[in-house]
Amino acid sequence: MIKLSLEHLQVNQKLARNIYDQDGRLLLARDILLEPRHIEQLLKKGFEEVYLWEETSAEEKTELDNRAAMRKAVLLPGIGTAVEAFREFMLSLSQGHAITLNQVEDTVDLIYPEIIGSNNILNQIKLLRQKDEYTMKHSVSVSIIAVKLGEGMGLNNKSLRCLAKAALLHDIGKARIPMDLINKPAQLTSQEHKEMQQHPLYGFRIAQEMQLTENEVITAILQHHEHFDGSGYPFKVLGHKLHIFSRIIAVADVFDALTSDRPYRKALPLFEALDEVVNRSLGHLDPFITRRLISYVLNVIPGEMVKLSDGSIASVVLVNQNEPQRPMIRVKDQFINLQEERRLHVIDLA
Ligand SMILES: [Fe+2]
Ligand SMILES: [Fe+2]
Repeated sequence: MIKLSLEHLQVNQKLARNIYDQDGRLLLARDILLEPRHIEQLLKKGFEEVYLWEETSAEEKTELDNRAAMRKAVLLPGIGTAVEAFREFMLSLSQGHAITLNQVEDTVDLIYPEIIGSNNILNQIKLLRQKDEYTMKHSVSVSIIAVKLGEGMGLNNKSLRCLAKAALLHDIGKARIPMDLINKPAQLTSQEHKEMQQHPLYGFRIAQEMQLTENEVITAILQHHEHFDGSGYPFKVLGHKLHIFSRIIAVADVFDALTSDRPYRKALPLFEALDEVVNRSLGHLDPFITRRLISYVLNVIPGEMVKLSDGSIASVVLVNQNEPQRPMIRVKDQFINLQEERRLHVIDLA
């Protein structure tokens, strides 16, 4: 057994003694193989030293590698099926057919438990991006992000499910806009822009046609492009009059759009997109909700694999609160604090 200070600690080492917090609760059990999140947890709690068994065997290292490979995210089945259901909605509506409230409820039933059940939804959003064209997956992604924001704001289950539905339907009005306009790979003319800006109103009409009764859902469909300073559309409603769902969906909508490839520009890497979302809280977005988005991402990112500017892959060990885009990372067995190593930076999730 050896005693080692945390600054010399490496992942994949085996703990030789139980670690308890100040209240005597077991924090980490003896024999656990240390992962970055454990080291982060210890640093946060103010520990300086731990007892370790001296060597990690080759088999244990292989087991760890296997465990890391198994952690590779796969798209949750409910989310994949919901994208297909949404494709059906949009197709039916664009061909002039109606969709029923039951179809909408069934789709919400597919995604809602998956969102509530997963701690980190960033990988799901990323997988959706790889899987589908923007318009089809966008509404499902916005629903996932919005519910996670609402959850962090303490909304109850009934409200969260309703928010999931509102976010899923926020762009439903785009079914009444020609596909070649939606996918136009260039700047829109002012006439085209005006047509595009009709989609909240078209969505409102579709909601009425399907006899949707929840006011908050209908309001969010109408208001999701309104800006906090009253410069949005269609009615230039001021921020304090906007429904909380509209403000949450607006943030989720902007974040998903920025981190997705669009016909006229490439996706922004995660941290650049967060910076841009913060910029837009000056006037366009509710700053309280953009802060919720930042803290959600910062909470779930430790332990995630990221791509670095030199092409290597690292895992995030600890987020530096004053400079979150430059976390402490681990590449192989080496810890690098990107706040000090300024030649490297995180590009995106790996
Ligand atoms: Fe929209
Ligand atoms: Fe949208």
